Amino acid sequence: MLVMIAKDRVRKGMFIESVACPSREFSRRRFLVKSDSEVAQILATSAQEIVINEQLGLNAEGRGPTKRTPASQRPLTARAEAIRGKVTQSAQALRGSLGNLVEGGALDLQDLSQASEVNARLWSGSAKIALEVTRLKSKDETTYLHSLAVSGMMTLLGRSLDLDEEMVANLGVAGILHDIGKLLIPDEILNKQGKLTDSERQIIRNHPEAGYDLLKAYPELPQVVLDVCRLHHEVLDGSGYPLGLKQKDLCICVQLSTVCDVFEALTSIRPYKRPWTTTEALDWMFARPHLYDRKMVIRLGSLIVETPSNERNP
Ligand SMILES: [Fe+2]
Repeated sequence: MLVMIAKDRVRKGMFIESVACPSREFSRRRFLVKSDSEVAQILATSAQEIVINEQLGLNAEGRGPTKRTPASQRPLTARAEAIRGKVTQSAQALRGSLGNLVEGGALDLQDLSQASEVNARLWSGSAKIALEVTRLKSKDETTYLHSLAVSGMMTLLGRSLDLDEEMVANLGVAGILHDIGKLLIPDEILNKQGKLTDSERQIIRNHPEAGYDLLKAYPELPQVVLDVCRLHHEVLDGSGYPLGLKQKDLCICVQLSTVCDVFEALTSIRPYKRPWTTTEALDWMFARPHLYDRKMVIRLGSLIVETPSNERNP
């Protein structure tokens, strides 16, 4: 289980999942604390909290690791299995249509809209299970399942914020296409497990612009789809990328895409990190109102209804 604790409770033998301080200040994201100097390094950061993994090290009280079956290894319920099947089918279809786009093929907006609608129905029927099954990504499914999850959440959130149905439908397509720039990145960089070089990091950070450049060749796409693709890594205080825009220049749809994108990334199982629970991800985002709109974070949380006892006990 991942637990967020005050920084000054860190001790040797804890396994650190993340140190909640500005990026680069503490780049060793996951590690076992083995020495007093590592404890001192963590205490010296500007972080208020750290996230520890109680299965891989001492728990918050300083006692031995807690043995528990990780969520990713627990069997899915029959309903979740059925949804997983549908999601896998959608991801395969998406692989075909997005692959075609990346190679300069024709855009079938109707096809994408339909895929988005089917996906949105899945999410509105059972957001919690949809989130649970899209967390389980194999390496070559990551971008497609992430895009479907973000698309599903964007439609749910857009509708709950009373956006009109045409805009909600556009948001669904925007979610599906928002990371298309990642498909232009070589797999050896995108899936690299070790530390990225500066130039590799730059290539990854360029994916919003690369995607935007690709999509703007299709005039039939609504403007919001282009905006979400280009701006979904912008944050309210202007510290995002690629343009460093501030809140006043970020429309509600772009802000909404950022919240869904970050939430999905935090709760996903990725090679380099353990997934955060819904609560942990929402708490982390809520504690950063300079980056993410708090009302949107709360609203998203209310849509992804979570029963803590289910998440924490098999
Ligand atoms: Fe992205």
